[in-house]
Amino acid sequence: MTIERNARLRAVRSWGDYFHFSVEAPAVGRGARPGQFVMVKVDDCTSPLLRRPLGIHDADAGGIELFFKVAGAGTGILSRKKPGDRLDIIGPLGKGFTVGDGLKGKKAYLVGGGRGIAPLFFLGRALAAAGARPAVFYGGRTAADIPLCDKFEQAGFELHCSTDDGSFGFSGFVTALVENEIIRAKPAIVYACGPDPMMKVLASITAKHAVPAEFSLESIMGCGIGACWGCVHRIKDGTGDGWVKICEEGPVFPGERILWL
Ligand SMILES: Cc1cc2nc3c(=O)[nH]c(=O)nc-3n(C[C@H](O)[C@H](O)[C@H](O)COP(=O)(O)OP(=O)(O)OC[C@H]3O[C@@H](n4cnc5c(N)ncnc54)[C@H](O)[C@@H]3O)c2cc1C
Ligand code: FES
Repeated sequence: MTIERNARLRAVRSWGDYFHFSVEAPAVGRGARPGQFVMVKVDDCTSPLLRRPLGIHDADAGGIELFFKVAGAGTGILSRKKPGDRLDIIGPLGKGFTVGDGLKGKKAYLVGGGRGIAPLFFLGRALAAAGARPAVFYGGRTAADIPLCDKFEQAGFELHCSTDDGSFGFSGFVTALVENEIIRAKPAIVYACGPDPMMKVLASITAKHAVPAEFSLESIMGCGIGACWGCVHRIKDGTGDGWVKICEEGPVFPGERILWL
């Protein structure tokens, strides 16, 4: 874990409420693994006081990329940053997705709902580098909620898109699109990040078809480093269950360990 107090914002792209940042932060970029996140101090002022968690969208030795949707005050302040501005970032944090050698030659399905697509670009690149065959399922309410389709396509990923209102791609929930594909070609593993209702349905689909799955959970976070107990979630633990800190033990958990509310 590193603190980069002077990380330089290199470039910004935006699509409505969605923003993509390229950030010069070599120490964070070098250590990052897919599924990990950073805590960003959005401003020098005291409101909002707490850092905001954002998944690592991509990383290399020069820095990281972030992809976020404006949700409230903190992400609103971030969205007004300009290239050349400085960001104060702590990371990489948490435990990410499992990318094992056992996936060589095998299909892996990556399922992102809305802003939940953020960590799946880095994951897809890591899976491809490990010899797996990633296919990305990207769902949103409308065409405006899936702005990264072009990026995934240009990077050569097999891409399946869906919109709830049918304005682009498959018409309906991304979970229905994924289940159709699971029935057609069962993957070795499914990875997912998105709203809880989407992941809960996906967890029952993957369990029904006996496909291992990993889910990246979200929680409001106070510190991001295991100090405040602000992010606990009930997880199956051996024969019983217990509370774990998502920031420390997660945010990624195997499907069979998650107790969905
Ligand atoms: C590990 C992790 C990784 C994340 N990665 C991304 C990412 O890559 N891109 C992205 O767009 N967002 C991501 N988020 C969500 C992001 O952190 C929140 O949207 C952000 O903190 C909201 O801050 P705000 O000040 O803009 O909104 P606030 O004013 O704090 O909140 C606005 C609304 O959003 C709700 N909210 C706040 N935080 C969360 C949260 N963590 N989960 C669910 N609802 C929340 C609040 O209850 C409120 O209704 C991630 C969250 C976690 C825990
Ligand atoms: S956010 Fe503080 S313990 Fe997880």
